[in-house]
Amino acid sequence: MGEAGMGEAGMRGPGLSGPLLEARNLSIRFGGLVAVSRVDFSLAAGEVLCVIGPNGAGKSTLFNLISGLYRPSSGTVRLAGRDITGWPAHRIAAAGIARTFQSSRLFADLTLIDNVVIGMHCRTRTGVFDALLRPARARAELEAAAARAGDLLRLVSPDLHDRRHSLAGALPQADRRRLEIARALASEPKVILLDEPSSGMDDRDTDALIEDIRLTMTERPGLSYIIIEHDMRLVAALPERVMVIDYGEKIAEGPFAEVRLMPRVQEAYLGRKATHA
Ligand SMILES: Nc1ncnc2c1ncn2[C@@H]1O[C@H](COP(=O)(O)OP(=O)(O)OP(=O)(O)O)[C@@H](O)[C@H]1O
Ligand SMILES: [Mg+2]
Repeated sequence: MGEAGMGEAGMRGPGLSGPLLEARNLSIRFGGLVAVSRVDFSLAAGEVLCVIGPNGAGKSTLFNLISGLYRPSSGTVRLAGRDITGWPAHRIAAAGIARTFQSSRLFADLTLIDNVVIGMHCRTRTGVFDALLRPARARAELEAAAARAGDLLRLVSPDLHDRRHSLAGALPQADRRRLEIARALASEPKVILLDEPSSGMDDRDTDALIEDIRLTMTERPGLSYIIIEHDMRLVAALPERVMVIDYGEKIAEGPFAEVRLMPRVQEAYLGRKATHA
């Protein structure tokens, strides 16, 4: 009885049948450029997938397609069996996909708590009219949200929790990254997309980030991650599976230890480096 009444029969239960997130033949074209070309992947509940590839390969664009910022030219995205292709970003967020951006999108003039509360907006019920008509309920909801935001900050990093009433703009780069993860978690996602979470971090911060991500994985066992990453230490330390993108195409997939030795992957990195040099 305890597990009954989950509703939406047939739309959930990715653990029972099929992957949590699945992209098939996903492409987007900007004029003459095919930025993402026929990419297929799937992600199980609780899994971490790392996406690597040279600059301009199409990694962030892939996130923009999955999170609804861009509409694919072709292909499909399914979440827990439901076709979410072409849905607007807010609907995809509400369906359970949260993300961080390659360049920080925090509100520098708001406190850490408020930044995290903003991440909950797709889950809170009080709208502007409710707030005017029923201020007591609105205040209660806001207080509950602030308490939950505090818990999330503690989960991601006790340091952040200690500084929860400071302004986000005062944080060092590494803590901003962590705060963005806390904000993404606030929307209660099933899948979280992190776009280069270690950028701007030194080795020590990256190690701490790896531990933070591991901790959230233990605390939220069903949560899945897709992580775009340049720092190979993080790639080697975290995921079970890596997908390599080059010129918009998936050129390899598998355990990092195997993928990194593939000639096509080495060429992608070396070849591109040579043209940049
Ligand atoms: N809105 C857009 N309009 C036109 N071209 C775009 C647009 N968004 C991305 N592109 C192009 O698509 C390609 C892939 O860009 P993308 O930002 O996805 O690469 P990336 O793999 O994330 O690179 P990096 O590692 O540098 O972040 C690039 O050539 C980029 O210029
Ligand atoms: Mg990018």
